[in-house]
Amino acid sequence: MTISLHDFIRGLPKAELHLHIEGSLEPELMFALAQRNGVTLPYASVEEVRAAYAFSDLQSFLDLYYAGAAVLQSEQDFFDLTWAYVQRAVADNVRHVELFFDPQTHTVRGVSMTTVFSGIARALRQARQAHGLTSGMILCFLRHLSEDEAIATLEEALLLREQYADLWTGVGLDSGEVGNPPEKFSRVYARARELVFHVVAHAGEEGPPAYVWGALDGLQVERIDHGVRSEEDSTLMQRLVHSQMPLTVCPLSNLKLCVVKDLRQHNLARMLRAGVCVTINSDDPAYFGGYMNANFIASAEALQLTREELVQLARNSFSAAFATPEQKQQWLAEVQAYQDTH
Ligand code: HPA
Ligand code: ZN
Repeated sequence: MTISLHDFIRGLPKAELHLHIEGSLEPELMFALAQRNGVTLPYASVEEVRAAYAFSDLQSFLDLYYAGAAVLQSEQDFFDLTWAYVQRAVADNVRHVELFFDPQTHTVRGVSMTTVFSGIARALRQARQAHGLTSGMILCFLRHLSEDEAIATLEEALLLREQYADLWTGVGLDSGEVGNPPEKFSRVYARARELVFHVVAHAGEEGPPAYVWGALDGLQVERIDHGVRSEEDSTLMQRLVHSQMPLTVCPLSNLKLCVVKDLRQHNLARMLRAGVCVTINSDDPAYFGGYMNANFIASAEALQLTREELVQLARNSFSAAFATPEQKQQWLAEVQAYQDTH
């Protein structure tokens, strides 16, 4: 008997490579932390928070996302935030996560770099012990701020590198894209590469294909986050296919932020069928209406993805992970075994 599409997706082993931990802050936890820390929120109830999540573009989301992050103050807050995400990931059979975090959002409010690293890392280490969920941390620079501020952030975080060597594997670039091209950060990326960090960047979410070129050639990234506007440039598409450069696509995010009007118009399936190494991710699940399996299910239904294609997406997520070849082989074998028995 063949199982339902939902059950097939639920059981499929997968990796999440594009998840902003601050974007997993559910309204209930936002309220609880606000109370714990004596922070006044501009909302009367959890329902009112959810009702405010009607976005017109990336910036309209970022305004609320940064405001919400203000409830995060103590090490325990960052632990609770990350631990809540871990529960959701495990429930969705996410086997590996590489999460983004934005230290500048917190250090500017007087929260120390140590507090941020420590709370997130404690939850990720506990997740490894309790659930076998492996993970990495990718420190993101806020692109609306200056490159000098990004450099200062990297230097400050480097004091903690040894202590978090098991988790902190890379750097990334997020926040408002248009007007802040990748090249603005070429020096800090050169420094990060010299320090043997993995490097990724958001590009081609709202920004033009030129920003994807900028991330590839200016920053020499190993993955593109989003990258959906690459399709507008056929030479870029050829480059992505030939190099098998992974794109961490976030379908429900693109829908919520009006990058696409309707999920049925999303280019995920077209790019997959053209041979691009695309993956499915949740981005900011508390704000965009769904974690990994919700993104898989909505995409599968809107784009008529076959089970072979869903398996390919899971395979891509493990191939694109920052892990040893042995670890990747093990995951890919698990995906193969799943396909063979379902
Ligand atoms: N794009 C840019 N910056 C972000 C995002 C995103 O989707 N999520 C959180 N910060
Ligand atoms: Zn993102």
